[in-house]
Amino acid sequence: MNNLDSLLERIDPQRIPQHVAIIMDGNGRWANLKGMPRSAGHAEGVSAVHCAVEFSSDMGIKYLTLYAFSTENWNRPQEEVDTLMHLIGWAIERELPDLLRNNVRIHLIGDIKRIPDEARQRLINSREATAHCTGLNLMMCLSYSSRWEITEAARLIAREVAAGNLNPESISEDNFASHLSTSPAPDPDLLIRTGGEERISNFLLWQIAYSELYFTPVLWPDFDKSTYAEAIIDFQSRERRFGMTSAQVNENI
Ligand code: FPP
Repeated sequence: MNNLDSLLERIDPQRIPQHVAIIMDGNGRWANLKGMPRSAGHAEGVSAVHCAVEFSSDMGIKYLTLYAFSTENWNRPQEEVDTLMHLIGWAIERELPDLLRNNVRIHLIGDIKRIPDEARQRLINSREATAHCTGLNLMMCLSYSSRWEITEAARLIAREVAAGNLNPESISEDNFASHLSTSPAPDPDLLIRTGGEERISNFLLWQIAYSELYFTPVLWPDFDKSTYAEAIIDFQSRERRFGMTSAQVNENI
């Protein structure tokens, strides 16, 4: 039995996370270690995305949210930004037949209007082409930051109040969350960050209030099905208490 098979045996199919979010970090360092340009790390990162999508689909995960490009990433050298934008547009177009075959639905999360025309059009095409798919929901965060998203939600709510369509007293957590760009997806059960850093970097700040966090030193291009399986096994070993006591949680099982 190979390593992946023995890991798969340890996964409880009844307790698969419904929503996994991933901060894909370490492409640049992966390339540096190999004496290659950073762009080679991003290109290899696309293969890891393919692998993560396939594994999520096979595991029956319903939502996979990937942090592909943050609002802050616009501040990288222009050449790297151009390379990444081209790569993302090219990759989504190349992957489309496979996504359709696997019944994967694309969602775009973030300030998409900032994405250069060619890549944006390819992304929108793939979203439209997969709109009927009912398997894995692949939420691609592009030009995204959580503070941007929360500010946008506040703006939408303020407009509804100003128009007289919403009473400020009726704004609830659920109502606020319904204005976030990830709505109506459930909150992530598991947040994975690769690349060894242990921070959240402006990702899904509202939605991860009760997510289990998993940090791995594995650099994103090396993130394979075994690493993903290890994260799920670790997730399944956690007791999720949502603010309750252990006794209360066990009573409710
Ligand atoms: C972080 O590594 C990675 C990114 C900023 C880009 C991630 C994008 C991809 C993997 C391509 C995604 C493609 C699709 C189709 C979703 P880093 O550059 O910050 O690495 P470092 O921390 O080692 O410098």
